[in-house]
Amino acid sequence: MAKLTEEMKKELIRQAWQGAEKSYSPYSNFKVGAAVLASTGEIYRGCNIENVSYGITNCAERTAIFKMVSEGCTSFTAICVAAGDTALMSSPCGACRQVMAEFCADMDTPVVLAGKDGSVYDTTVGALLPDAFLRTNLIHE
Ligand code: THU
Repeated sequence: MAKLTEEMKKELIRQAWQGAEKSYSPYSNFKVGAAVLASTGEIYRGCNIENVSYGITNCAERTAIFKMVSEGCTSFTAICVAAGDTALMSSPCGACRQVMAEFCADMDTPVVLAGKDGSVYDTTVGALLPDAFLRTNLIHE
């Protein structure tokens, strides 16, 4: 697993909870926040953004990563997700896992899942999305 200092991990968790405060989730009432550590050292926060047309909801993880990309950085070295008003932490959805795989520095990039009860679960992009479809799969003769 790539190096993530305890200090930076704490900071990412703190910023992910801050991100959750901005959650626009009137339909699920499930607030999610994310904080992504860009390769530049910058931290981008995100929240879930719902819509009355439920299917176009954007998850917190993708909001944070898309903010990073839209500012010109296409690689991150860690991401933290802070979820909900339920005690349990939430696990990233399939779409977010695929987007993480696209922009992570490598598949060992740490993913930190934080729950309201203080629980923290450490995993990686590769563990969340084994055998991912990556840009290398597009190379053909
Ligand atoms: N959600 C996220 O933002 N991230 C996740 O990892 C899982 C789900 C959001 C989408 C929706 O707004 C709400 O949680 C309930 O599914």
